[in-house]
Amino acid sequence: MALRVLGIETSCDETGVAVYDTARGLLAHALHSQVAMHEAYGGVVPELASRDHVRRVVPLVAQVLRDAGIGMADLDGIAYTQGPGLAGALLVGASVATAMAYALRIRTIPVHHLEGHLLSPLLSEPAPDFPFVALLVSGGHSQLFDVAGVGHYRLLGDTLDDAAGEAFDKTAKLLGLPYPGGPALAQLAQGGTAGAATLPRPMLGSGDLDFSFSGLKTAVLTLVRKETHGDLSASLSMARKADIALEFESAVVDVLVAKALAALAQTGRRRLVVAGGVGANRQLRARLAAASRARGCEVFFPDLAFCTDNGAMIALVGALRLAAAPPSDYTFAVRPRWDLTAVGA
Ligand code: KG4
Ligand code: ZN
Repeated sequence: MALRVLGIETSCDETGVAVYDTARGLLAHALHSQVAMHEAYGGVVPELASRDHVRRVVPLVAQVLRDAGIGMADLDGIAYTQGPGLAGALLVGASVATAMAYALRIRTIPVHHLEGHLLSPLLSEPAPDFPFVALLVSGGHSQLFDVAGVGHYRLLGDTLDDAAGEAFDKTAKLLGLPYPGGPALAQLAQGGTAGAATLPRPMLGSGDLDFSFSGLKTAVLTLVRKETHGDLSASLSMARKADIALEFESAVVDVLVAKALAALAQTGRRRLVVAGGVGANRQLRARLAAASRARGCEVFFPDLAFCTDNGAMIALVGALRLAAAPPSDYTFAVRPRWDLTAVGA
């Protein structure tokens, strides 16, 4: 029998809602991004994020049910992002999901945000079969996992400091680019000249599967200081910024590609899955696709809409886990910090 799960994502600055049907797949999804609201502050303001989720989530639920052509009574479970993320923001999704599930007497399924990212390529065609290696690159994480099945996640490598997306965002800020920095830097890089600037490839020869990106950001700062004679306010030309942006992007991509290939070699897996916001990066997608193909491996990316935070990936995980979910007692707690390897099958 087909089961229908509503998914609610409110861990950071996007309100995402979706309905997933175990027989028919994704029925509808909707997203409200708070980017414009946080832009003036150059980063996410947690209290503003929570308040905006409160305003958006119920209308988005109504919209998604309408788009899916179903009513509340057709739902079999409600999944919500339990963590990791901003506590206040998580509480909005958790309380709305629990209240609705209580009224409908159906199960709640608390979902790990990163499990959503990790399994998001299952929303696209062709979907990868298990097992696979997953490269998870977002604003908060740069990790490699060996994924044997739902809930079977072994951490292969992690960042020692900044996440890849964080490095993109901080470097973009340093170059005076608008918020959010990652996509802006990637766009600027398209106009850069390859080889016109030189930056290091951190941890490339470290012999393990770990990453470190904070030194790269410092190397950009040092380069910009040198070229502006220590006066950061003396701005570089856009053309020069584009050269630096391209070199920065290439350095991050070089390291991510090398480590992802090393993870495939180490585990003997033939499939690579890329997930998380940085997975939207075009150079990363092209280089990983070419490198994997050259090794006879398949690579899977989520659709661009499901790379960054969204409700569809939460509804999907909820649908995969509904059958095994215990009956709800309609209490809830959020987990602002939560290790993915602790979720269990
Ligand atoms: O997965 P996500 O939406 O949120 C987290 O859970 O962190 O990822 C957001 C991150 C941000 O750091 C953003 O700058 C980065 O993904 N990002 C990109 C691109 N699009 C988003 N980084 C590089 N190139 C892109 N095209
Ligand atoms: Zn995310």
